[in-house]
Amino acid sequence: MNVIELRGLTRRFGDFTAVDSLDLVIEEGSIFGLLGPNGAGKSTTLNMLCTMLRPTEGHAFIDGMDVDKKPHDVRQMIGIVFQDPTLDSRLTGRENLEMHAELYNVEAALARERINELLSLVELEDKAGEIVRNYSGGMRRRLEIARGLIHHPKVLFLDEPTIGLDPQTRAKIWDYVKKLSEEENITILLTTHYMEEAQTLCDRIGIIDHGKIVALGSPEDLIREVGEEMVLLELVDASKADLFRSADFVEKVYPGKRTTLVLRDGPRDTPKLFSFAAENGIAILSMETYKPTLNDVFLRKVGRDLREEHAENKDKLRTAMRRRGMGR
Ligand SMILES: Nc1ncnc2c1ncn2[C@@H]1O[C@H](COP(=O)(O)OP(=O)(O)O)[C@@H](O)[C@H]1O
Ligand SMILES: [Mg+2]
Repeated sequence: MNVIELRGLTRRFGDFTAVDSLDLVIEEGSIFGLLGPNGAGKSTTLNMLCTMLRPTEGHAFIDGMDVDKKPHDVRQMIGIVFQDPTLDSRLTGRENLEMHAELYNVEAALARERINELLSLVELEDKAGEIVRNYSGGMRRRLEIARGLIHHPKVLFLDEPTIGLDPQTRAKIWDYVKKLSEEENITILLTTHYMEEAQTLCDRIGIIDHGKIVALGSPEDLIREVGEEMVLLELVDASKADLFRSADFVEKVYPGKRTTLVLRDGPRDTPKLFSFAAENGIAILSMETYKPTLNDVFLRKVGRDLREEHAENKDKLRTAMRRRGMGR
């Protein structure tokens, strides 16, 4: 059963198309990840599914209900954790949850029980009486996830759930998300620009770039399609990378600051690479081989590197997070 269904879902801002005719189905109980660089259209997609933003064209269905026609019914079925924190920092953790329960008309006795259950799920029982202002970034995220679950939603949307968190806290959040996927049989759609997050958490992912899905499948399948082994070369003259295109043992060449090659026959062809370079006057400074990752799936589909782009974006992101008080 497909709990989430997108049919030609499109959102424009003026002349600019942020989300471009997405078709997608997501199966009940699974974790689906939208992976893509900054500005790819992830939040815009999520906001349409959450009924926060209206589609320009196309349709989205949650449990068979059109988000644009039945926004109130859809809202009862979903929990949302937005990219920007929305907790009230003057209230305690428990009070934040209580307020949300009231908002969703959860009956008081039921709410009390549910709140305790969720506080224990995200291991915040001991901190429930503390005001949120004193919470760390990781504790806030956990509280937000708990809050999104109070009314027993069928679908949980998480927009960049671990953005700006340190690696240990990130790993903790992953544990909670997995646990809750198993214990609550909830369907989870999350967005992320962390490849590792998509790879660790998601049953299936869609890689999104410029509002379009460029790759779709399980992380394992997508990676397997790329090839057995990747070669990363540092050349004295990077412009010579294109010469490798004429080598019969080379399947793909991705030029860049460093050149990435996919060898047709995997590691067996590495010696040929050196003789080819020597014959063609390509001086190699360094070479390393590695197993492909989701980054290579992205590289193959869009021809540029998800990682390189993020190195450039990191500083902007840090500044934005510091402004929001989310920095480490
Ligand atoms: N309200 C808006 N008005 C104009 N442009 C927008 C608006 N919201 C998002 N965009 C643009 O749409 C693109 C996708 O944004 P977004 O969905 O937030 O990307 P992501 O979440 O993948 O980083 C970006 O280029 C962004 O600048
Ligand atoms: Mg976003």
